[in-house]
Amino acid sequence: MSLTQVLEQGNFSKQDLVYLLGLQGEEMQELLNFALKVKLSSLDNHIHLRGLVEYSNKCEKNCLYCGLRCKNPHTLHYTMSDEDVLQSAQLALDKHFGSVAIQSGEDTSRQFTDKIAELVKRIKDLSDGKLGITLSCGEQSEEVYQQWFEAGAHRYLLRIEASNEELFYKIHPNNKKHSFNRRLSCLDALQRIGYQTGTGCMIGLPFQTLDNLAEDILFFKEKDVAMVGMGPFIPHSQTPLWQFANLIPKDDNRLNLTLKMIALTRIFMPKINMVAATANQVLSPAGRKMAILAGANVVMPNLTPTIYREEYMIYPNKSKVNDTIDNAQNQLVEELSTINHTILYDHWGDSLAFHPHP
Ligand code: 5AD
Ligand code: SF4
Repeated sequence: MSLTQVLEQGNFSKQDLVYLLGLQGEEMQELLNFALKVKLSSLDNHIHLRGLVEYSNKCEKNCLYCGLRCKNPHTLHYTMSDEDVLQSAQLALDKHFGSVAIQSGEDTSRQFTDKIAELVKRIKDLSDGKLGITLSCGEQSEEVYQQWFEAGAHRYLLRIEASNEELFYKIHPNNKKHSFNRRLSCLDALQRIGYQTGTGCMIGLPFQTLDNLAEDILFFKEKDVAMVGMGPFIPHSQTPLWQFANLIPKDDNRLNLTLKMIALTRIFMPKINMVAATANQVLSPAGRKMAILAGANVVMPNLTPTIYREEYMIYPNKSKVNDTIDNAQNQLVEELSTINHTILYDHWGDSLAFHPHP
């Protein structure tokens, strides 16, 4: 079968995915172009925005790759004040973003979970229901997920990180706090409750094979998720995985691998929402644009007040710590115009792939 024929069948086997993930040069470009066509015909050239609020960098977990892990002594801990959160939401409203996403390290204390519920309600109130709300606050009990849903959150992101269990435990400690099976049950609970649920993985991890990445795409499909967020792994010197940084593909190869993952996921699941992750921009200034051209349709401009940003260092060189929101916005609009994409303002930008999972 020719490459075009493999692409056109759309319904890939694991073997197809491994072959397609290995494409280079002109053949890789053919894959990316095909994915862009699929996106434009299923979702048009629309980009949805989520104003990102990095609420707190405190985390109970100890993932081996992440700068927010509780054993990283170099983090100064912060939690945004209610006022700062509400002001960020107001900014999203004023700028017609349509949606906000609240992200934080994992905290299962009642104080934290009640606070998130309260903030979700207050954001709904201040915007008269106009702002959609995505949460990304890790693994919680089904009751907490339910409480947040009733408060008004309707989308939730929880990356599986690596859908292969063996690889999962190479990048997480193997103890009670870090459980592959619990991550799976959380995803099930989110879908049962009625969230538009998103998952995703990191790309270019040490010990990760093309087989593993193919399994990730099959996992997204099998779980029938409404959204996918994935990005390249960026080694962080204050984390245990740093010692294996020499094992991972070079920056440009990691970026290309990410673009191929985005493209294949788009072809496989034409209507899902897929974010152009900021980690792409760490590898190349054009990373975001390239992700959009490979099939991403969501961008998350950072609304976190600049005083906190330096401390939300999941991976190094993460954000333009001092960039103003206006600057970032102008740059985004200009960038999108060069690739003939337009922002859909004042919309929640729900996933067209979403349906209830009773
Ligand atoms: N490089 C890239 N992404 C990372 N994340 C955490 N650490 C890193 C890293 N070093 C991602 C994980 C997690 C999200 C909060 O950030 O996928 O889900
Ligand atoms: Fe915490 Fe998430 Fe980072 Fe793991 S990846 S240490 S859960 S913030």
